[in-house]
Amino acid sequence: MRELDIAAMRAEYGGEPDLTESWLADGWEPLVRRWLEDAVTSGIAEPNAMVLATVESSDEGPRPFSRTVLCKDLSPAGVIFYTHYDSAKGRQLAAVPHASATFVWPALAHQIHLRGSVHPVPDDITLAYWRSRPRNSRLGAWASQQSRPVGSRAELDGLLADVTTRFADVEDIPVPPRWGGYRLRPDVVEFWQGRRSRLHNRIRVRLDERGETLAVERLQP
Ligand SMILES: Cc1cc2nc3c(=O)[nH]c(=O)nc-3n(C[C@H](O)[C@H](O)[C@H](O)COP(=O)(O)O)c2cc1C
Repeated sequence: MRELDIAAMRAEYGGEPDLTESWLADGWEPLVRRWLEDAVTSGIAEPNAMVLATVESSDEGPRPFSRTVLCKDLSPAGVIFYTHYDSAKGRQLAAVPHASATFVWPALAHQIHLRGSVHPVPDDITLAYWRSRPRNSRLGAWASQQSRPVGSRAELDGLLADVTTRFADVEDIPVPPRWGGYRLRPDVVEFWQGRRSRLHNRIRVRLDERGETLAVERLQP
């Protein structure tokens, strides 16, 4: 079998015109939307996936903690994702309500990084999204105490079977009490576009607490 040469793995970027400050003339949100649309058009799997990093406060001091979630809404106010409020991320966000979220689409040589404060969304927003979820996803959310250990796959399947029975006659399965959305309200959004010879384009937008642009700056790659 051929040896896996990780060090030799590299892609050449380039192709589209250079990202410039003018692409941000209408703010950060339209460009996030455009790059997300590009990812959808390109057929990338889970185009709205983003890596969410939070801070875990431990006895040893603060520690970074990251995992992938799906962006389920985008507006000038920020990005929304849904999860269990008592999950590891939920507990971390209750203690330190700040996070970063990174979209990466290597096939397009695009990355977007957002950083800011995180706020639970109002119940009506969660409910509207919840109602759009397939029944199986709703049952799964009820079955799982996210981030808690479970003895086996069989035990997990048993939990799902229990909630399936419990809601068998319920058409409109309610939102679990500790499940819902968070909005990350960015104070920084950085766009990265891969270029030839590793001289990539990075443009950072800094925002005030009302979401108004404070600065658009080019960063060295
Ligand atoms: C592509 C992808 C999308 C995911 N989307 C979500 C999501 O939207 N919400 C969520 O709670 N977990 C999602 N997960 C699972 C999380 O990565 C994670 O395992 C889970 O939320 C528990 O994280 P925590 O223990 O850090 O709280 C996704 C995982 C992958 C790989």
